[in-house]
Amino acid sequence: MSDSRPILITGGAGFIGSHLVDALLAQGRHVRVLDNLSMGRLANLPLDNPLLQFIQGDVADSAVLAQAVAGCAAVAHLAAVASVQASVDDPVSTHQSNFVGTLNVCEAMRLHGVKRVLFASSAAVYGNNGEGQAIDENTAKAPLTPYAADKLASEHYLDFYRRQHGLEPAIFRFFNIFGPRQDPSSPYSGVISIFTQRAQQSLPISVFGDGEQTRDFFFVADLVILLMQALNAPHVVEGAVNVGWNQAVSLNQLLAEIGELCGGLPAVSYQAPRAGDIRHSRANNQRLQAHYQLPQATLIQEGLRRLLAQS
Ligand code: NAD
Ligand code: UD1
Repeated sequence: MSDSRPILITGGAGFIGSHLVDALLAQGRHVRVLDNLSMGRLANLPLDNPLLQFIQGDVADSAVLAQAVAGCAAVAHLAAVASVQASVDDPVSTHQSNFVGTLNVCEAMRLHGVKRVLFASSAAVYGNNGEGQAIDENTAKAPLTPYAADKLASEHYLDFYRRQHGLEPAIFRFFNIFGPRQDPSSPYSGVISIFTQRAQQSLPISVFGDGEQTRDFFFVADLVILLMQALNAPHVVEGAVNVGWNQAVSLNQLLAEIGELCGGLPAVSYQAPRAGDIRHSRANNQRLQAHYQLPQATLIQEGLRRLLAQS
């Protein structure tokens, strides 16, 4: 018999969360979204689908969270202020979303006997310790920002609830996720969403630094395939798992690809690097390969083509 208990997706009105919502609904699952709409948008959700329930609320509010978790089969905890820079500018308020929210998820799950939880951690926990090499999960952690410190602390709390209360946390350290619905509206939004939108609108592009910094970009549809496996797997992988392709793409390479797909680029200027910016970030993904069935990689050119086609 199919499971009619909903999957709770915190942050489900956002970029990654809304793609997970779509994938679960397509499988006939009931989905409950908790989002405060600080970045997420109702337009990202198929609100007319009777399998979907939307709750507007804050993960920092323990009472709201307890209500949202009640009766759920599992939780995907994706709500957070995703901008690293926002946490540098406002550590106190981002801590409420990025750490207290996780602790509230853990407590609500303990209270209601819900076990499985996916957690969106980040490559930011390694700081600059990659030094240009592919980073594996045992690399020393060096959180350089409140965002990274909150993600790392969240991982430790999830592990405490695993040992103490039998929670089943599947912790992923996402590298740079990109794709349709990533909101480009803030200067601190994901770089691909900003560059592609500005290229399409012929607006000038700013590169912070010399453009030779690199990221390991991962297309959102590929990520959702992994998250679905983690929700349905009989057992969770203990410890965190990197999500990246072990591919370094520089911002200058990115711009060249975008220029090719858009038939040219607007003016590009190079500015001072951002404080706390990581120079190189590339995943060693052997754990991911060992525990999950990886989809065929949607590499940068194909991902950009699909993104531009949908914008
Ligand atoms: P996003 O901003 O599109 O999604 C986050 C969602 O959480 C938004 O809908 C926002 O409104 C909601 N939210 C924020 N604070 C909240 C709060 N206090 N209560 C309730 N809802 C709240 O960003 P995203 O890229 O989809 O990120 C999803 C998760 O993945 C985040 O936890 C982020 O830190 C993590 N992550 C993202 C990336 C990436 O490259 N996009 C990389 C590493 C980790
Ligand atoms: C991103 C995610 C963060 C995640 C981390 C994991 C977002 C908004 N941030 O941070 O949640 O934890 O990956 O690896 O999704 N840049 C420019 N010009 C611009 C915008 C950005 O040059 O207009 C540069 C930045 O200075 C940086 C690079 O592009 O060097 C990537 O920036 P960004 O997309 O914000 O990603 P991260 O900081 O890596």
